[in-house]
Amino acid sequence: MPPAVLSAAQIERYHADGYLVLPGFKTADEVAALRARALQIVDQFEPGAKRTIFSTTDQARGTGDDFLASAEGIHCFFEEEAFDASGALRQAKALSINKIGHAMHDLDPVFERFSRGPRMAALARDLGLADAKVWQSMYIFKQPGIGGEVKWHQDATFFDTTPCTVTAFWFALEDATRDNGCLWVEPGGHRGPLRERFVRDGEVVTMETLDTTPWPDDAVAVPVEVSAGTLVCFHGLLPHWSAPNRSAHSRHAYTLHATDGTSAYSPRNWLQRERVPLRGFD
Ligand code: FE2
Repeated sequence: MPPAVLSAAQIERYHADGYLVLPGFKTADEVAALRARALQIVDQFEPGAKRTIFSTTDQARGTGDDFLASAEGIHCFFEEEAFDASGALRQAKALSINKIGHAMHDLDPVFERFSRGPRMAALARDLGLADAKVWQSMYIFKQPGIGGEVKWHQDATFFDTTPCTVTAFWFALEDATRDNGCLWVEPGGHRGPLRERFVRDGEVVTMETLDTTPWPDDAVAVPVEVSAGTLVCFHGLLPHWSAPNRSAHSRHAYTLHATDGTSAYSPRNWLQRERVPLRGFD
């Protein structure tokens, strides 16, 4: 077993706050390699007639065949404001993509290298994942000018397990600031209830309300301003949001979501694996 990555004090802070910031977790070269590969994927992507818009404020709109197929594929999703009234892109394709998802960590060698290895495996164990299973990868562009808001939510909404074990690994690929839409979190909020559950019945996905506890007041939210290469780990129940990017600069980030294989993964979660085997961080 590889040595621990986190100190006892860091693990304690993670459990107290529901999140942990690890500056300099990735080198500039590692970040550059992932960014270059993401841009290649976008470049090779042909929008065609089946363009999929990913709405960050209305999750139910981020659906359709492409969305469901992306569970086991590599798909590009457009920003809500990417198209004008005539359906033409307002700006270059590379500046119109909302995200790439959701199985690059299993299907693309460059993404796999970034996402896995002994250090990630040890980190996941330090965070309490005894038998990590990496369900999802997302490359988020948060484009200058049009990168949309992601309202308050909990990632466990999308990865319901019993008990709740989903853990997010959020890598800053560019400096994330208040101006370009950094994460905002409610420290300690992971001790609250799961409010919503995103479930799939066949081809239909819906958002169910589980608990009417209000979302935190914006005044209690803490901005997580970090530099490129930083990894932010957070608990699946931690409420968080990010503002629209109205700056002139993009805010690329890459996320992984893992659950513990010892918890029961709901068959109603939208993301299921049928063809691509589910693996850990090793
Ligand atoms: Fe999230």
